[in-house]
Amino acid sequence: MNNDGELYSSHDHEQKVDVNYFLSTYWNLLKWKNNENVLDVGAATGDVTTEILLPRLPTDLKKIVGVDIEEDLVSFAKRKFKHVSKADFVVLDIASRTVPEEFYEHFGHIFSFNCLNWVPKERHEQAMRNIYDMLQPGGQLFAAIVSNIAIYDIYENMARENKWQRFFTTVENYVSIYHHSADPARKLVDFLKKVGFVIDACKIEDRTRTFPTLLYYKNWAKSVNPFVKYLPEDQVYDYIEDFCRESRKHEIYTIEDDGKESIRLNYQILVACASKPENIS
Ligand SMILES: C[S@@+](CC[C@H](N)C(=O)[O-])C[C@H]1O[C@@H](n2cnc3c(N)ncnc32)[C@H](O)[C@@H]1O
Repeated sequence: MNNDGELYSSHDHEQKVDVNYFLSTYWNLLKWKNNENVLDVGAATGDVTTEILLPRLPTDLKKIVGVDIEEDLVSFAKRKFKHVSKADFVVLDIASRTVPEEFYEHFGHIFSFNCLNWVPKERHEQAMRNIYDMLQPGGQLFAAIVSNIAIYDIYENMARENKWQRFFTTVENYVSIYHHSADPARKLVDFLKKVGFVIDACKIEDRTRTFPTLLYYKNWAKSVNPFVKYLPEDQVYDYIEDFCRESRKHEIYTIEDDGKESIRLNYQILVACASKPENIS
């Protein structure tokens, strides 16, 4: 992802709306024990971790830890939320070959919002296995994963253009492995079951996002774009303009007959809740 914490943090309102909706809808599936530690995987700037998730957690919570692969974002979160004594932020690649020893069976619940879609095919099972290993027996995973969104088609189209090709040779690593799947929920369930989870729920949620202005859309697109950080600075503007041109082809950005701009993005999120069995044979 782009590692500009300030930009992400000022354009994550819609992500927060989604997370609030998912937590309200599925909260009754979560079963709590006393004094749990909780993990948020892919915490980025820590806004969702501390402002949306933390206030909902049981008051006897020991600690919430937000992890992210991007060091810059973890430093940003540490600075921004240093006053939140129950929150801590740590650099961790969720698909790394092993989990830190101190995290092994340490968490009662692990949440992850819009992160596992960033983990490519060949590392996906490892990420699921690590989550499973970090949960205590009887613990639960609650994940929201982007499965289908026109932004991925735009990345793929732009990666084929002569102008941008050389910057995006590994575009497939940035497209959710569920995006081209005929049955994304089945695919996720298979991954979860393979590492030992029991499925409590797995569903596709249709969502729509309306952006207030074209400038906001451009900045949002920039804040979540994985390629911007690899572009020479003098080409970023041109890239984002081309991104908007592509967005018009996908009817995300349209101009109505009366001249009014409309920027609406329809997408699908996979929401899953899964438990690690209490007694593992
Ligand atoms: C779109 S952001 C979501 C942030 C936050 N959860 C939210 O809902 O606003 C996705 C985050 O996942 C992180 N990420 C991507 N791959 C990761 C990995 N392998 N391990 C840990 N974090 C990862 C990115 O750095 C980024 O901060």
